[in-house]
Amino acid sequence: MKIVVAYSGGLDTSVLLTWLKETYSAEIVAFCADVGQEEELDGLEAKALRTGASKCYIDDLREEFARDFIFPMFQAGAIYEGQYYLGTSIARPLIAKRMVEIARAEKADAVAHGATGKGNDQVRFELTAAALAPELQVIAPWRQDRFREQFPGRAEMIAYAEKNNIPVLASAKKPYSMDRNLLHISFEAGILEDPWFDASAEKAREMYVLSVSPEEAPDKAEHVELVFEKGNCVAIGYHDLDSLLTDLKITGVSYDSDNHAKLNPLQVMRVLNKLGGKHGIGRVDLVENRFVGMKSRGVYETPGGAILHFAHRQVESLTMDREVMHLRDSLIPKYATLVYNGFWFAPEREALQSLITESQKNVTGTVRLKLYKGNIITAGRKSPLSLYNPDIATMEADPTKAYNQNDATGFIALNALRLKVASRVHAQK
Ligand code: ARG
Ligand code: SIN
Repeated sequence: MKIVVAYSGGLDTSVLLTWLKETYSAEIVAFCADVGQEEELDGLEAKALRTGASKCYIDDLREEFARDFIFPMFQAGAIYEGQYYLGTSIARPLIAKRMVEIARAEKADAVAHGATGKGNDQVRFELTAAALAPELQVIAPWRQDRFREQFPGRAEMIAYAEKNNIPVLASAKKPYSMDRNLLHISFEAGILEDPWFDASAEKAREMYVLSVSPEEAPDKAEHVELVFEKGNCVAIGYHDLDSLLTDLKITGVSYDSDNHAKLNPLQVMRVLNKLGGKHGIGRVDLVENRFVGMKSRGVYETPGGAILHFAHRQVESLTMDREVMHLRDSLIPKYATLVYNGFWFAPEREALQSLITESQKNVTGTVRLKLYKGNIITAGRKSPLSLYNPDIATMEADPTKAYNQNDATGFIALNALRLKVASRVHAQK
């Protein structure tokens, strides 16, 4: 038997790798996706091989993640339960997709993952595998009694690792679980399980990775401009962009006539994460409904995503037809739930995406934002396709004569008709 295992090099997945090899007498291929978690990937292959893998794939999926997953989702304006930017949810189908590609190339029989069996990740992972490679077996050790009995806690894992000469660094375990990628970092479980625990307080200061707190953000606001084409951010303007790009090792960038740097989706995310993080933007603390039935408390940092989401809506406000916008808005909860529940590679998500693409064809323009202590403040927007016409909206005389005030009399009278009828009928009761 041959199994492809999702591997990070940490204690959990190292134990998983060895346990699978032993339990299934299997050849193990390790796979690590780089989705922007910024973990040390140097030496990972050697570690996987020393742990018993016959081969290790390390794939940089960051560009694909930004271009084909994050950006289409942000065109939809997706947000789950009004608060969650779906950072973990949107990464899972990509990781699983690449994993089944490897399984096919390797002629493997199964793929295996280390999701706990109590959450959403297992569902997202396995629904993707089902949609893309129905012939593959999926092994989820955490859903097997024997695995949970063997590893009731971390101590048993460490002992197992030592016994099997698994090279894991005894890093101090954080009192919560984290998942980081290009879009966000999530914190769950442990001390966060108490929904009254104040994760914005001083005692939780050390937890955060991508952002400073609003209190510690600079006292001086900064402006940033985002240029959108068809609902996607394609360029950014910022007074100190050159040094920011240098910091991020982004080179070879060209500029448009307004001195905005033209960036690809990956570069956009990296730049916005830096700016948002600096100004304490995008921290969210919520209790969410997991697909598997339970409620769960999570704390998230989504600095770039928060800016992108806000900016996109501003450009839409100028350029999108009212009915198209309201129709799309009515679909946001549906779309977000599909992503959250793991139905990315599903016909209904793909059908919705076609509608989203159509709705974005005129979402072109520029928004200027002011970032200040956790706040995103609109400081201007413009578009060559703006539908906003101050001549029509003005409270002064309308030079276009497009709107005749007298028309409103009949408009209101007909809309009022049923209200008057009902009011008279009910008054007689
Ligand atoms: N609750 C979030 C979600 O369902 C984050 C999950 C984080 N996953 C993890 N393995 N730490 O998308
Ligand atoms: C896990 O169960 O592995 C993490 C949490 C989740 O998937 O919702």
